[in-house]
Amino acid sequence: MENDMTELIGLDRRDLLKTGLSITAAAYSPLGAQQRESIRIGFVGTGGRGTSLLRNLLKLDGVRVNALCDINEANLARAQKLVADAGQPKPEGYSKSETDWRNLCERKDLDIVFNATPWQWHTPIAVAAMKAGKDTATEVPAALTVDECWELVETSEKTGRHCAMLENDCYYREVLMILTMIRAGVLGEPLMAEAGYLHDLRTVKFNTVPHGEPWRLEPTIKRNGNLYPTHPMGPMAWWLDINRGDRMTYLVSMSSRHAAMKEFAIREFGPNDWRSKTDYALGDVNVTLIRTEEGKTITLWFNTNSPRVKEHLLRIQGTKGIFNSMMDRVFVEGRSNRGEGENWRGRHDWEESAEYRRQYDSKLWKNMEEQARGAGHSGVDYMQLYRLVKNLREGRPPDIDVYDAAAWSVLSPLSEVSVAGRSKPVDIPDFTRGKWKLRAPVDPDAIV
Ligand SMILES: NC(=O)c1ccc[n+]([C@@H]2O[C@H](COP(=O)([O-])OP(=O)(O)OC[C@H]3O[C@@H](n4cnc5c(N)ncnc54)[C@H](O)[C@@H]3O)[C@@H](O)[C@H]2O)c1
Repeated sequence: MENDMTELIGLDRRDLLKTGLSITAAAYSPLGAQQRESIRIGFVGTGGRGTSLLRNLLKLDGVRVNALCDINEANLARAQKLVADAGQPKPEGYSKSETDWRNLCERKDLDIVFNATPWQWHTPIAVAAMKAGKDTATEVPAALTVDECWELVETSEKTGRHCAMLENDCYYREVLMILTMIRAGVLGEPLMAEAGYLHDLRTVKFNTVPHGEPWRLEPTIKRNGNLYPTHPMGPMAWWLDINRGDRMTYLVSMSSRHAAMKEFAIREFGPNDWRSKTDYALGDVNVTLIRTEEGKTITLWFNTNSPRVKEHLLRIQGTKGIFNSMMDRVFVEGRSNRGEGENWRGRHDWEESAEYRRQYDSKLWKNMEEQARGAGHSGVDYMQLYRLVKNLREGRPPDIDVYDAAAWSVLSPLSEVSVAGRSKPVDIPDFTRGKWKLRAPVDPDAIV
């Protein structure tokens, strides 16, 4: 339908964006432009991640935490103390059962329910919150199945409530700098992006460290594909205007055999332990390739099983150049070339990124660097909450909305289908139902 509209008025999407006629994210905002003095928060899941989020939330202006929920009473009490220590009244606690969050969602004194529970609870809690008239912000991934993704989208549309996803990786300074470079046309038209979640989580999955997450082991035993796609996908979706001018159409996915988890278990627990005898479904290294409607490609790596250093791989290739985060180098045709000959014919040499980092630094980071100092993941954990709370207080939709939450999360179950079918192509649903053609690109710098 949107296509018909652009054809009707004889403009393509880029022209539309220039004229300001684009359907902005705000126009799709379920909530409309409601301004709020403060945001009243209910928070479910106060373990490792939840506590860190809560600490950062409590640093922000206009935030009140009225209720907390966790089945672990010690974690709940710790979080209640955090809030009280920040000078707010001790929030009411919910810990009676695995579904006590239903009672929290029904409270009248909440605007939004945050959710940092293990994966299987993300969609049920988000849906309950929206049905109870609250916005919701969920940890990643927002959903585990295609049906859950649709349930989030349909509930958000029906209830008029936001479902934001807490994808903090979008807010890395480098990610936003690359976004600024792309918008300035430095790399030309984007053609390909590559990123990965490449993080040795064996001790976390086997719970042999204090910050263990034992719930992560079961999916490794039962599922094979990319089980955690949103961290690398978020930045790439922003660079490539996914759901905002382009959309992902299909993927193919392939996993290596599994070996490293078992080797680790035998060494750690002995050959007779059940963990050493388990056949882990998850291949140690997974790679997923995605094609977009506009002909761009995305490469997504996933490896949490094998010994390695955490790698923050980000590569983006455009028609004019390439940025490579691991090398920390840039090549821009006509600017980076060295030696004899015309510029674009000269020797192809990498340039250090320092000058680009200065020139294309994001406004958000320039303005908020001090406040973000010391927050988790190099400050991005503060940035994402700052942006979310500011957007909601000022009546704007979240940077990462329900359509993004669904499109980035669905890659996981779809990669499983592809892996199980000898890497067959699998279609990716259009959760926006065509609205991607006119939705304005995300702009995390817009209101700093
Ligand atoms: N964005 C990031 O950088 C990042 C980092 C770490 C974890 N995470 C995500 O955060 C989530 C939580 O991870 P974590 O490391 O904090 O795990 P965790 O095990 O430390 O904490 C989970 C908490 O949820 C509670 N819980 C479990 N089931 C519950 C229920 N039914 N009702 C209420 N509380 C319940 C547990 O008691 C625990 O306190 C996961 O989805 C994970 O993927 C995101």
